[in-house]
Amino acid sequence: MTSFLKNTRLGLKFTLVLLLFFVGGTILSWVALSRALEQIAEDEVNAKGLLLIATMNAVRGYTSSHVNPLLAARLETEPEFIPETVPAFSAREVFETFRSNEAYQTFFYKEATLNPTNERNLADDFEAELVQRFRNNPELKEISGFRTVNGQSLFYSARPLAIGSESCLRCHGDPAAAPASLTNTYGTDGGFGWQLNEVVAAQMIYVPAERVSDTVWISLSIVMAVFILVFALVILMINLLLRRNVIQPLGQMAALAELIGADKLSGDGSELARLDNVTGRGDELGQLSRVFQRMAREVYSREQQLKQQVQQLRIQIDEVKKAQDVAQITDSEYFQDLQQKAGALRDRRKNRGEK
Ligand code: HEC
Repeated sequence: MTSFLKNTRLGLKFTLVLLLFFVGGTILSWVALSRALEQIAEDEVNAKGLLLIATMNAVRGYTSSHVNPLLAARLETEPEFIPETVPAFSAREVFETFRSNEAYQTFFYKEATLNPTNERNLADDFEAELVQRFRNNPELKEISGFRTVNGQSLFYSARPLAIGSESCLRCHGDPAAAPASLTNTYGTDGGFGWQLNEVVAAQMIYVPAERVSDTVWISLSIVMAVFILVFALVILMINLLLRRNVIQPLGQMAALAELIGADKLSGDGSELARLDNVTGRGDELGQLSRVFQRMAREVYSREQQLKQQVQQLRIQIDEVKKAQDVAQITDSEYFQDLQQKAGALRDRRKNRGEK
């Protein structure tokens, strides 16, 4: 890996390292963000659930204090039980009306009871355990989480339902004291023997788990899309800046160095002028390129000087050689001999002339 990085080009190296951080960062933020968003979505759905439970309790309260007193007398006289007198009934009916709104169709409300008047309110094992937990811990005011029912994943919010007033015990205390019409309709098997302040049920709001995960997905996709876009732009920008500010000038300097090394500078400064776009910069590369230009000029002029000196030296050497050659010839015995002979000849001619 290190040798690979050592041999890769600067731009690619930066991109690879950034990409590595990018992928790592994406995974990390994905995990962290999805956790956080899940928590937020759960809290939000839970808050809605608790709000609904509070609303149902208001409906229950209204029935207890306003509707029931009006109709209580008729419960004794009429053979047919009047369900409108029952808080649990009004809560259920109001919730059904609420559910008829398409946006809330998937919401489900249940008063999960250990010993219910109506069999349909019987708590299943899971709900019974929640009721037990509320009973064991009076401080506990809500529980929420996920569970699977018939293969469907559901999110639930639960609150304890306790017998808060004596009026409840009229129908849920001793069956003998209960209105006749009630026992006629529901029998005496369930929903009796409850105690004041006893937690008898857990009020449950169920919502399909997708409602939670959908919200998470939407938020997560938006945030991650922005994150990825920003990171991709950052990588692109760094690459662009790197290429324009570092890699290009370095390449130009390398090419110039190559020319200097091969002694191919033209001398008119055209190659040096290519660095002009960098030399004006105040950063390190600007400084380097200025030094580089100066160095190139000096190397060039020294080279030229050297060449001239060599040329002169060569001429001097040539002249010395010529002189040496002449001296060699004039110093030779043959030449001396020839000179003597020529001298003798000259003398002879002179003597002949004098006679
Ligand atoms: C007039 C009689 C009456 C009174 C008063 C009354 N209830 Fe009920 N309650 C019923 C009947 C009947 C049902 C069954 C309704 C149904 O069909 O779901 C019921 C259902 C319930 C349920 C659902 C579980 C089950 O038993 O089916 C709970 C919980 C409950 N009542 C709690 C209370 C509380 C708490 C009060 C006091 C605020 C109260 N009730 C007052 C008659 C009464």
